[in-house]
Amino acid sequence: MNYNIAVISGDGIGPEIVAEAKKVLGKIEVKYGHKFNYTEVLMGGISIDVHGVPLTEEALSTAKESDSVLLGAVGGDVGNSKWYGVAPNLRPEAGLLALRKGLSLFANIRPAYLYQELKSACPLKDEVIGDGFDMVIMRELTGGIYFGERKTEEVNGIIKATDILTYDDEEIRRIAIRGFDIAMKRRKKVTSVDKANVLDSSRLWRKVVTEVARDYKEVELEHMLVDNCAMQLVKNPRQFDVILTENMFGDILSDEASMITGSIGMLSSASLGKTKQGMYEPSHGSAPDIAGKNLANPIATILSAAMMLRYSFDLDEEAGAIESAVIQVLKDGYRTVDIMSDGFSKVGTCEMGDLIADRI
Ligand code: NAI
Ligand code: MG
Repeated sequence: MNYNIAVISGDGIGPEIVAEAKKVLGKIEVKYGHKFNYTEVLMGGISIDVHGVPLTEEALSTAKESDSVLLGAVGGDVGNSKWYGVAPNLRPEAGLLALRKGLSLFANIRPAYLYQELKSACPLKDEVIGDGFDMVIMRELTGGIYFGERKTEEVNGIIKATDILTYDDEEIRRIAIRGFDIAMKRRKKVTSVDKANVLDSSRLWRKVVTEVARDYKEVELEHMLVDNCAMQLVKNPRQFDVILTENMFGDILSDEASMITGSIGMLSSASLGKTKQGMYEPSHGSAPDIAGKNLANPIATILSAAMMLRYSFDLDEEAGAIESAVIQVLKDGYRTVDIMSDGFSKVGTCEMGDLIADRI
């Protein structure tokens, strides 16, 4: 099959890590007989340099017309970059927000997987880690308190700030369906996280998720309060398969979950909307401190490309081939500097990409 991919290399380490993901995808093309057609799209700092804005209309249309978007990272050294002296809507990250909004990407998927080979990087005790954990956080991305009305006012000398948390049933239903769909491809368990003992929006969340669950008889659904979930993530992360939650809870819990996997250079993500189209990017930023030095770990981006194959193109086997290749490279003892420890072979960005591609 032919697939059209909009590629946004971005800034800092972006071009280096995206090049490695394309290298690995190249091996998938050869082995499985697919064709990936890439269109480079400028976004972020580089777009500011070339066009004066972080995302042009043309770039957005190219992304919209693609089958999916593969992104490195955007942004510069925030304290020391020409891009940050200007209005917020002209900064690199504004391009990313405009793109997510422009593509209506309401579902953010962040897997938190502990590789056996990286167990020593996990801050949890061995008896808690056991054989490791493998979960996915499905976070609602375009609703809730981050998008509600907000204001600060002063009345009779009292300063009052307000942020409103709103969800409607349709917003909840569409993310819940995504969560259950992913659970069907995994261990068939959904933990829906809310604060239904306090919040009306959470009571609606719980009601709608329960309704959606009726269409997924094979999937076990449990409800968990968010404070308990925060505790359970460190107490027994092995119990989770898919965590389904609203925007702010997902923001906080996904950071907690990522920390227990050990390294930021390993974590992939996908942002999806109503169609098969998605945007795939590592969870980390543009790492200006190590840019251009062949030091960045490309694995998060390579695993994001695997997610693209699985979620946008339904190429499960091909996605699995990439994931297995990553595990094999770790088993074979190769480490980029962020995951390096005694007794392993240190490799650069480019070599890590070669090693993974070789194992496809
Ligand atoms: P960062 O994630 O870029 O870097 C944090 C630390 O992790 C740095 O020490 C960096 O060297 C290291 N690191 C990150 N990715 C790595 C990798 N693949 N391999 C090895 N080490 C890695 O976060 P920071 O420094 O807060 O932000 C830098 C820039 O990135 C800022 O302009 C920020 O706004 C932007 N950013 C962009 C994102 C995106 O494009 N989605 C997400 C987060 C930040
Ligand atoms: Mg966050």
